[in-house]
Amino acid sequence: MKVEFRHEPLAQLPCLALVTFAFEGSPASSGSVECLPAEARAVLSELQSAGELSGKAHECTLIHRPASLMATKLLVVGAGKKGKFNDAQLRRLAGTAVRYLRARSIGDLAWVLDGAEVVPTTVQAVVEGALLGDYDGDRYKTERNGEKRIDRLGLATGGRKVGDAAAGALERGRILAEAQNFTRDLVNEPSNRMTPTLFAERAKEMAARFGLDCQVLGPEEIRALRMGAFWAVAQGSEEPPKLVVLRHSPADAPDSPVVGLIGKGITFDTGGISIKASENLHEMKTDMAGGATMLGAMQAIAQLKPRVRVVAVVPATENMPSGKAYKPGDVITSMSGKTIEVLNTDAEGRLVLADALTYAKQLGCTVLIDAATLTGAVTIALGNITTGVFGWNKDWVDRVLAAAAAAGEKMWALPLDEEYRELYKSTIADLANTGGRYGGAITAAMFVGEFAGDTPWVHLDIAGTRWSNEEKPYRAKGPTGHGVRTLVQLLMNLSTWAV
Ligand code: BES
Ligand code: MN
Ligand code: ZN
Repeated sequence: MKVEFRHEPLAQLPCLALVTFAFEGSPASSGSVECLPAEARAVLSELQSAGELSGKAHECTLIHRPASLMATKLLVVGAGKKGKFNDAQLRRLAGTAVRYLRARSIGDLAWVLDGAEVVPTTVQAVVEGALLGDYDGDRYKTERNGEKRIDRLGLATGGRKVGDAAAGALERGRILAEAQNFTRDLVNEPSNRMTPTLFAERAKEMAARFGLDCQVLGPEEIRALRMGAFWAVAQGSEEPPKLVVLRHSPADAPDSPVVGLIGKGITFDTGGISIKASENLHEMKTDMAGGATMLGAMQAIAQLKPRVRVVAVVPATENMPSGKAYKPGDVITSMSGKTIEVLNTDAEGRLVLADALTYAKQLGCTVLIDAATLTGAVTIALGNITTGVFGWNKDWVDRVLAAAAAAGEKMWALPLDEEYRELYKSTIADLANTGGRYGGAITAAMFVGEFAGDTPWVHLDIAGTRWSNEEKPYRAKGPTGHGVRTLVQLLMNLSTWAV
């Protein structure tokens, strides 16, 4: 999709569809509809009187050969209640417009920017929403929906001046949405096309394209590093495990912080010997979403170049039952030296994260953020809407929550407490890898946190938010890429604060 500002006066803007939005209650005379010439608005008033135009959120009204406009069609997208309007809603409306037009093979649109000036955050939200809305996860269909992509997105300024900030915002929106869609593509891949080896290949490709340093460690190196917890999970699979390390090290960045982004990269989670039920088991192809989130974040970071050192670490493996697989009751020694009694081989995510966190610290990371599809329990608590945020360090948890709010991603902090520690004590080893059903998201998070030690650490449980089975007017069902924008925002914030 080509994205650009269009400076023609609205009436003289040639495109297939000019897109405006309007609020509930006054859809003919609110929102960006107000920028239209009187003749065009008159038609909308008629539609409003006839009860055909309400302004309800995501209502789409397409007018053919609109009076006094050079555009072939005019689309009015309902924006809902004016009091609830914000950039997050704008992002969704842009997605709705794109999906509505795309379905009608209208691939060239111009979004009318309203207000007295061109506002950077508005531009960014519209670009993000449009590109995210244009995503479809149907690459293996022989007749693809995705082939009806939008070719051109104009941001119609109505002749207003576009400053550097607004031009930068367009670029930022494009970079962020493309990174998020990259993550969605990775998560969407079935496990036969996303083995640990193929995951590492995709990381290398991305790194080469965007100029990041990329290192991939194989089985021998993983063993040599004494990553006993990662190894235990990997040993049941025929597919060799890979440890992916990506680095963003700008010359002008201060020595600290060094931010470690650790992503769970289970390319398929059968549960292992503690095997899962077969219902919805196919969804476990998405168990590398944490790793994919970190790859997406790194793709954006490589382009936006925050002045912060970042190291991404993704332990990638399958979790399989086999004659070589680890078994309930096994005691393993993690890279940190801590011993772990495996009470359930399906609690594998915390094991691979344990060693990845230890390794990230060894590589010099001074703050750790992990993203993982860690527990079914977090989906019970927060559903598919909100990511669970965990951490002992209030300052870092707050920074993540602030970044999430700015990026328009829903995240919520859940508590950690020493009292939960009892639940994952082992009788024969330092720790047990499960803490039972109650408070499952918390005990899982705390287990991971044991390996962060004194290093500030925040854990994002994206088990619920990684995927949506619900089709929205603004978003295809399937992988969401939730978390990418928050992480990039966090690093951009750090970059500003470091100056
Ligand atoms: N990958 C799963 C968690 C998951 C569940 C992700 C649903 C996405 C959707 C994880 O490895 C797992 O199996 N967790 C167990 C932990 C339990 C055995 C302590 C769970 O949540 O049931
Ligand atoms: Mn599991
Ligand atoms: Zn898992």
